Amino acid sequence: MTALWWQTAVIYQLYPRSFQDTNGDGIGDLKGIERRLDYLTSLGVDAMWISPIYPSPMVDFGYDVADYCGIDSRFGTLADFDKMLAQAHARGLKVLLDFVPNHTSDQHPWFAESRSSRDNPKRDWYLWRDPAPDGGPPNNWISDFGGSAWKWDAPTGQYYYHAFLKEQADLNWRNPSVQAAMYDIMRFWFDRGVDGFRIDVLWHMVKAADFPDNPPNFDYRPAMGEMNRVLQLHSTDQPEVHGIAADMRAIADRYGADGQGERVLIGEIYLPVDRLMHYYGQERAGVHLPFNFQLIDAPWEARSLAKLIADYEAALPAGGWPNWVLGNHDRPRVATKRGQAQARVAAMLLLTLRGTPTLYYGDELGLSDVAIPAAQVQDPRELREPGLALGRDPVRTPMPWDGSENAGFTKAKPWLPLNADWPTRNVARMAEEPHSILTLYRRLLAMRRTHASLSIGDFALLDTECDLLAYERRHGAERLIVALNLGTQSQRLKLPDWASNCRPLLSTLAAAAPAGDGALLLRADEGVILSPE
Ligand code: GLC
Ligand code: CA
Repeated sequence: MTALWWQTAVIYQLYPRSFQDTNGDGIGDLKGIERRLDYLTSLGVDAMWISPIYPSPMVDFGYDVADYCGIDSRFGTLADFDKMLAQAHARGLKVLLDFVPNHTSDQHPWFAESRSSRDNPKRDWYLWRDPAPDGGPPNNWISDFGGSAWKWDAPTGQYYYHAFLKEQADLNWRNPSVQAAMYDIMRFWFDRGVDGFRIDVLWHMVKAADFPDNPPNFDYRPAMGEMNRVLQLHSTDQPEVHGIAADMRAIADRYGADGQGERVLIGEIYLPVDRLMHYYGQERAGVHLPFNFQLIDAPWEARSLAKLIADYEAALPAGGWPNWVLGNHDRPRVATKRGQAQARVAAMLLLTLRGTPTLYYGDELGLSDVAIPAAQVQDPRELREPGLALGRDPVRTPMPWDGSENAGFTKAKPWLPLNADWPTRNVARMAEEPHSILTLYRRLLAMRRTHASLSIGDFALLDTECDLLAYERRHGAERLIVALNLGTQSQRLKLPDWASNCRPLLSTLAAAAPAGDGALLLRADEGVILSPE
């Protein structure tokens, strides 16, 4: 196969507020991203996805967009963006923006118009409904951040729907004018040279036309957060969303022939695998990569991971390219969930499975969730449903760059506290350490570049037992074995005949134990990449 750039690429998700501040306000900015581009190239990633940078009241930290075609002044200007983009491209780095089409800020001019009267031409751009007969909300849909998903608007005597905060009003994607306006926005950024979009909550975009009640979730426990009281059967994942995804793809594809390479669309979709697969498209192509989040929540256990990987591979439609994710700005960090030792094994897994990996900033340092004192909590999710560990501030803390003041992130007070271990867990220091997790990430990323089997090769699980997960990657004459010990006991892996003389290319621990006698002994928490001699 001839691989496309987004198939061999490793994507780096960066949370702009927390990457690098340059003007001393404690908040990261575009100039800061530009300053750190050489870090990204030296790390060895190919593309970055930047969480939203558009003008926003920041009630949901940029996922409440008030103007899709601008840059929030806290991050800089359009000129800063153009410069950063040009600098990224000059280094061969692709840039993906975060597109938030499901909802706008309540401060967006469209919503102001829509809200102004029932007969405003933009009334139907959002989801307005009459009250239920008792005057309450039109149905039982619950916001993902808790509480009814309907907000009463007294001046016009109707409710509007918001899947997230009341400051994030859902657009009516059944309205062709909304579609046209949003597609123009995609073109605006493609014309500026962006290489693609991560599409926020793609599976939320269309709701059942008649707004029936969602069914109760009998497995609901309060610790899950209120959104789980009901199953989001009618409020998400409606068949019409695939037409929209296909339209977006067609727009992206029209740019693909201009010499810059394909413009890629990545859909944020939290659904079971069988539903997820529809987002690759059916008659018409859908998004290139429907995000596969399974590794984030799966039990860290070799047998069930092997099954999960096999089932995902088997479920992929013809031509559907896989992808894998260990963390993002909404979910606990991998080092917190799996521990430091297994975070290294997880790194090897992420970067050697078949498909495009997305790496969350800071995970290459083994950054953990940072406990945020109650008085410093910023995330609306935590503020609305405190104490359930649903808050996302802990995974959005500043990038620790070096041993200087505030870890080199800012000269002011950072908007969220740094990780307490920043004096040792920072880029400058770990880059010098031959066995740091950062060095491991760099070596893994370098190995992906020099071994095509790791990026585009075939994938086959090996028969293993207990805590071992092992697989073969093969491309042409190149065959590699990846063996991961997810447990705390050493494990013996019997090697297939063709690999009986394998030698380790890379271990997650210091020096790898040599293979011998057709078998490999993996130490506790060790992952190894092996190549036949
Ligand atoms: C997505 C984003 C999340 C945001 C939500 C609403 O899930 O990743 O951060 O709060 O959408 O836009
Ligand atoms: Ca700043």
